[in-house]
Amino acid sequence: MKSNRSFTFDELMTGNRSEEFIESAYPFMKLMMQYQCAMLEVRTKFEVLNTELSLDSDRNPIESISCRIKKPISIAEKLKRKGLEVSLQSIEENLHDVAGIRIVCFFPKDIYKLAEKICSQDDIHLLEKKDYIENPKPNGYRSLHLILEVPVFFANEKKWMPVEVQFRTIAMDFWASIEHKVKYKKNIDDSTAEIVEKLKECAEGIHSLDMRMQEISEYIDSKKIGHRKFPVRTGEI
Ligand code: GTP
Ligand code: MG
Repeated sequence: MKSNRSFTFDELMTGNRSEEFIESAYPFMKLMMQYQCAMLEVRTKFEVLNTELSLDSDRNPIESISCRIKKPISIAEKLKRKGLEVSLQSIEENLHDVAGIRIVCFFPKDIYKLAEKICSQDDIHLLEKKDYIENPKPNGYRSLHLILEVPVFFANEKKWMPVEVQFRTIAMDFWASIEHKVKYKKNIDDSTAEIVEKLKECAEGIHSLDMRMQEISEYIDSKKIGHRKFPVRTGEI
């Protein structure tokens, strides 16, 4: 990324400048690979928690996990937007969301339980926490965002890498995906302000639905005492 050289597509694909390009791109590719590995580490931790917690409660707290590495163009745009240098060092010093994981849960309490469990692991550092469930954004957005730092063991070094984790319920995720469309298509028509207001109302509705569904689930669980997938041994012969 630090390179000032520019290449035409033909030069990249043919002739000896392709080697030059690959050489200059290698440090960036290596850094992206390291973020990818950090993401895998954290993803595995959530898969382990999901598997373990599902044994005790007879249901999975996590509905789905999705991962993404920020695209090079988005990395460059974000650095420029913040008035920062576009370089490898600048990425490492300033961006904490190159590696991102989204954890979609069934209920709000699952989010807090998973967040508490991951943060209590002794190889995890919590760098930042933004609780937009407790304190929703003015547009109604609700999610819990954590920036976690995790040690990754590469062939010749151990490196602490940041990973952004966003936790949402299924309903919050549904809302965010629709709202995202509106945000990036602001000029759809003149009724945008009305849509923004309607979305905010929906966010409130979705939150109260989440809480009511959680209550129902807790009630059902309270009636299932003793019903485990693997019966607890009582000592009887
Ligand atoms: P950055 O410097 O860009 O990280 O800004 P920030 O730290 O203030 O961002 P924040 O942590 O609040 O949000 C980061 C990510 O959360 C975004 O890239 C989105 O994926 C998601 N997000 C935050 N706010 C909204 C919102 O209002 N609507 C939707 N759909 N997604 C949001
Ligand atoms: Mg952020």
